[in-house]
Amino acid sequence: MLRCAVKKFAYFTTLLTIVANVYIYTYPSFYSKQCSWNCSNKNAPFQQDLTFLAKAKEYVNDVQMQWRGNHAIADDNDDIHIMAFGDPQIKGIWPKTPYVSRLDTFGNDHYLGHIYDMMQQRLKPQVVTVMGDLFSSQWIGDSEFHNRTKRYISRIFKRDLSSIEKVKQDNLDEQGQYKANWSKWGDRFNEILSDVKQNETASQGLSFEFGYEDIYSWNQDLEDFLIINVTGNHDVGYSGDATYQHMTRFHDLFGKDNYWIEYLTNTTHPWRIVVLNDLLLEGPALQPEFVEATWIFLNKLNERQFNGSTVLLTHVPFYKREGLCFDGPDTRFYPDVHPTEPYKSGLLRSQNHLSESISNQVLNLIFENGKPGIILTGHDHEGCETVYNKGSGSSWEATKDIESDVFVKEITVKSMMGEFNGNTGLVTGHFNKDTLTWEWTFSLCPFAIQHVWWFAKVSLLVTIFTWSSLLFV
Ligand SMILES: *[C@@H]1O[C@H](CO)[C@@H](O)[C@H](O)[C@H]1NC(C)=O
Ligand SMILES: *[C@@H]1O[C@H](CO)[C@@H](O)[C@H](O)[C@H]1NC(C)=O
Ligand SMILES: *[C@@H]1O[C@H](CO)[C@@H](O)[C@H](O)[C@H]1NC(C)=O
Ligand SMILES: *[C@@H]1O[C@H](CO)[C@@H](O)[C@H](O)[C@H]1NC(C)=O
Ligand SMILES: *[C@@H]1O[C@H](CO)[C@@H](O)[C@H](O)[C@H]1NC(C)=O
Ligand SMILES: *[C@@H]1O[C@H](CO)[C@@H](O)[C@H](O)[C@H]1NC(C)=O
Ligand SMILES: *[C@@H]1O[C@H](CO)[C@@H](O)[C@H](O)[C@H]1NC(C)=O
Repeated sequence: MLRCAVKKFAYFTTLLTIVANVYIYTYPSFYSKQCSWNCSNKNAPFQQDLTFLAKAKEYVNDVQMQWRGNHAIADDNDDIHIMAFGDPQIKGIWPKTPYVSRLDTFGNDHYLGHIYDMMQQRLKPQVVTVMGDLFSSQWIGDSEFHNRTKRYISRIFKRDLSSIEKVKQDNLDEQGQYKANWSKWGDRFNEILSDVKQNETASQGLSFEFGYEDIYSWNQDLEDFLIINVTGNHDVGYSGDATYQHMTRFHDLFGKDNYWIEYLTNTTHPWRIVVLNDLLLEGPALQPEFVEATWIFLNKLNERQFNGSTVLLTHVPFYKREGLCFDGPDTRFYPDVHPTEPYKSGLLRSQNHLSESISNQVLNLIFENGKPGIILTGHDHEGCETVYNKGSGSSWEATKDIESDVFVKEITVKSMMGEFNGNTGLVTGHFNKDTLTWEWTFSLCPFAIQHVWWFAKVSLLVTIFTWSSLLFV
């Protein structure tokens, strides 16, 4: 009797395990259009109301293509392929964290890592970027920041840990934990800042070294793509709480916060990536010199008079009126009387968007040449697509549709967190040889809420356990 019941249960769980695992290991094939690069020559127009049979056929075709690795091959070798992840916001584990939450956090890291693995193997992007808010809080200690970076690198992106281990060894506190040496970083920062502001004659020629050219990988021995980390308010804070400590550890473990990379400058089709820390553009700031440095960056960038298309990567979206996206404009300041942290009184506390005038200034500095471009941001979690139309003066108006000859698209990339279905943003850049312009398209590839991933893993364990228990009943 019992044996028979257990056996039935074993068949049942086996079936569920197979279904769940087939789903999580082939999920992009269920959304094959959204989960592929936009191949302008190959893509059939979007077909909405496919029959069940047609959908099944599309799925099977896509799985076959994925096995052969065909999704990764561009039909036009000059296309640019960028994979963007919104706000992973990984949480921490503290001594008092209950075991269930610890397990949840552990699973969440691997859930995010599963998305990255699937998409990376399927599509082989040239650039992978995380749109800021890598972690869930800016108010954590250095040791925790290092520990989270370690999880971020090893569990999600499966990268080599040696460089961050070295950073730790070079910056130890008495307990043998990582401690950001912010006085050293700050001294160097201020030395460069004052030198950059000096007149030609007095200058020692120090610079922030914002610019790169034709970089396709930070380490060609390890990988053939580029990984870019953008600063979020949860990584370095808004300008009212960004300290030397925040900036030091971000620079130590994730690299610069402001830079550009120019590509193919001497060809007919130049383009560039601009990484901007837009948290430090307006104030009142705790350390106004950080804001000053960001504006120096933007002015240097503008002086390049770059004659190509721009991909701007930043965290906080540009100004737009209420109703265009999930988040409307909302800027908050610390109260003038703030007894818990008096040094923050009156400073910028949070913002959903950049302010209107700052948005216009930044758009004018970066997109001055009128060439089409694309802006990728994070921050609001829900995702959004907006168009910034250049008006007759120097202001840009946000709308849903293109309303001007000179415009830039802003994509707020929907979060990769489980609650938002584990999305991956895909940007394809295609150079149109007839119009001699780069054309940028975006699609969002969803996965599923984290419970689906959990279910696939747990059902596998239950199945193994059930079959083995048959040996004993
Ligand atoms: C692919 O690009 C073409 C031309 O740029 C555009 O019309 C089409 O909507 C894009 N397809 C998708 C799925 O984004
Ligand atoms: C970070 O990890 C190390 C090594 O596992 C551990 O000793 C340390 O306590 C952790 N830091 C925090 C703040 O939990
Ligand atoms: C920070 O760096 C400076 C200069 O290299 C060094 O003298 C100092 O000991 C370091 N501080 C800590 C806490 O490691
Ligand atoms: C830089 O030069 C200008 C004019 O030549 C002068 O007014 C200014 O004081 C100088 N600033 C510094 C820091 O030397
Ligand atoms: C971004 O972070 C990763 C670790 O996740 C690191 O390997 C990479 O070099 C960083 N990028 C830059 C530009 O420093
Ligand atoms: C592009 O041309 C300029 C001027 O001729 C030259 O200085 C620069 O090195 C060239 N860049 C590349 C990447 O070839
Ligand atoms: C800028 O690029 C356009 C093509 O998009 C070209 O016609 C023009 O000559 C270029 N201008 C400069 C200054 O190189």
